[in-house]
Formats: sequence, structure tokens, C-alpha cells
Amino acid sequence: MERKLFSPINFQGVTLKNRIVMSPMCMYSCEPEDGTVQDFHITHYESRAVGQVGLIMLEATAVQPEGRISTKDLGIWSDDHMEGLKKVSDRIHAHGAKSSIQLAHAGRKANLPNDILAPSPIAFNDNYKTPNAMSSEQIKATIQAFKDAARRSKQAGFDIIEIHAAHGYLINQFLSPLSNKRTDMYGGPKENRYRLLSEIIEAIKTVWNGPIFVRISADEYHECGNQQDDFIYYAEQLKKQGIALIDCSTGGVVPATIQPYPGYQVPKAEVLKKQVAIPTGAVGLITSGIQAEEILQNKRADLIFLGRELLRNPYWAKQAADKLQFDLSAPKPYERGWL
Ligand SMILES: Cc1cc2nc3c(=O)[nH]c(=O)nc-3n(C[C@H](O)[C@H](O)[C@H](O)COP(=O)(O)O)c2cc1C
Repeated sequence: MERKLFSPINFQGVTLKNRIVMSPMCMYSCEPEDGTVQDFHITHYESRAVGQVGLIMLEATAVQPEGRISTKDLGIWSDDHMEGLKKVSDRIHAHGAKSSIQLAHAGRKANLPNDILAPSPIAFNDNYKTPNAMSSEQIKATIQAFKDAARRSKQAGFDIIEIHAAHGYLINQFLSPLSNKRTDMYGGPKENRYRLLSEIIEAIKTVWNGPIFVRISADEYHECGNQQDDFIYYAEQLKKQGIALIDCSTGGVVPATIQPYPGYQVPKAEVLKKQVAIPTGAVGLITSGIQAEEILQNKRADLIFLGRELLRNPYWAKQAADKLQFDLSAPKPYERGWL
């Protein structure tokens, strides 16, 4: 039986064999604290590729050491990181999946011993340090760091880059009026708050000609934060800049109580897809193949990102296929088990 979840999709020359994406998830497992890939990372990502996930996205990977969420984050700020990253990408490709990396900077949500940076000197909450407001030189250096990270991503063999502009990390801090109180050209109206993301995309495009995804938090759960009209504006700009897909998450820019329920963020992906005509990814408490198929068939999103479900079950694709009565080809060595 034909199923959309298991149908291929092409993004600017990169074809995914199905619509299942491993959502970026920090593993905080770089024990040497130098950003390098460890054996664990290879096992972790490769096993989901064996499990027939179509696109494996590496966790938030820091473009600058001061942009890590923790000292155990993966990094891509140095050429020394490339050997390990290439190995992960190669192992993902060995099983027919495509590889992607989420490029990130934590801004004021960095939990590090050193000084931290943000658009404005406002702490996330009492448990976080007060950041220093970024100077224009520091902004330039960060844009350059995203560009260098994109070059390294290409050399390491990744198929797709995702820019992390969600969950209250640096780029999201610039986008939101709740955390961006600047009075220069990076603050004030939404056109200015979008400038950092816009400049990062343009810088990346000078060294990267593959698809770029952007993850945003399309709800800030705050009446003074960005609202739907703002997100539509950002999505229109992203489309103009040639972004291949908007990965629609929510929250994280300021403390908020969120009560999630199955598919709670899907309407965000649906609104941007319908109003802006740009491909979107849906994420958040999507746990069954039937739920995923509904989202795709009703054209609410183009890709299904799975987080915790893939931590529980690397073979989720097989389980989803069985429920949807789809005959999913097994990896050759597993054929006797998957029949
Ligand atoms: C352990 C863990 C680490 C995460 N790290 C990241 C990350 O690095 N980047 C990101 O954009 N989202 C991150 N997330 C959010 C997930 O990508 C996903 O959006 C969220 O878990 C909701 O999807 P789910 O209900 O399928 O888990 C993380 C989530 C978990 C559980």
C-alpha cells in the first residue's frame, strides 16, 4: 500500500527516501569537553540510520566554543572537529539515509564557566548568568563562525544544514522582542530583529550550495513576544532567501508553562506551509505512524521530525510501517527478522 510517510521527497537535489527525520537532540556526551565526536555519537546516529530513518540530523553543534549549551556539546568551530563529523556522516550514508547537522549558538542559554553573550544583557532566569550584550564585532565574528561551520559541514559530507533559530538560543534571542532590546540595526522592529538570521543565511550561502533548513520557535507563549503575523513575515523572508524548509518548534525564549499534547506544534507547521507556501517540518509528540501519515496526507507538513520516540525506539520506522501496512524493506542483515 502506498504511504506518504514512506514516499521520497527532494530538496534542491537531495532526495530523502522517506519523510522520517531524527530531530536534533543534544546528547551532552562529549566527555573530553572539546566538541569532538565520540564513539557513542557514531553508534547513536548510525543505529537510527539502520532503523531506516530517512534523514538523521545531528544535535545542536556549536559554531563557537562560547556558544555551547554545556561543555559536553558537540562542536564545529575548528577543523579538528571534521574527522569525527565526517565519520558520523559516512556511517549514516552507509545505510541509505541522508545526513544533516544543526548549527547552533546558545547565546544567553550557555551554561559555561566563561562570560556569555546575547543581544541584550538580560538573563534567561535566576539560574542563568547575565550575558554581555554583543558588540558589532562580536556579531560579525559569529556570522563568520556560522559560515566556517557551513564550510566544514560541506567538507564533512553532510547533505543538509539546519540553522538553529529556535528554543531561545542566540538567533531566537535576536528575533524576539522579549530578549532583544538593542537600539542598533539588529534591534527594534522585526525587520531589524531578523537581520542576524538573514546575514547568517547569506554568509552560509557563499560556501554551501545544498539545502538549508531553519528551525524556529513559532510560538513564544507570551503576549509581548512574536505573534503569528511576525512568524509569517519571517517565513516569507526565509522563503525569499531560498530556505528549503522551516522546522516548526515552539517555546524556550522566555520561561513559560507549556502543556503539550499529541501533535501540539503541528498547527504551526500547517499555518506557515499554507500561508507562505514553503515546505515545513512538524515536530513534537508525534509518536505513531498513523499520526504522521495524517499530518502528511492532509498537507499540514512535509517532514515528520521525531525526538524522544527515536530515543525509545531506533526501529520506529518498522513499527510505523507495520501499523500502516506498508512493506518496508529491511536492511539486508535484518531480513529474517523483519519479514
Ligand atoms: C534529549 C533532548 C535533546 C534535545 N536537543 C535539541 C537540540 O539539540 N536542538 C533542537 O532544536 N531541539 C532539541 N530538542 C528538541 C527535540 O528536537 C524535539 O523538538 C522535541 O523533543 C519535541 O519532539 P518529540 O516530542 O518528538 O520529542 C531536544 C529534545 C530532547 C528530548
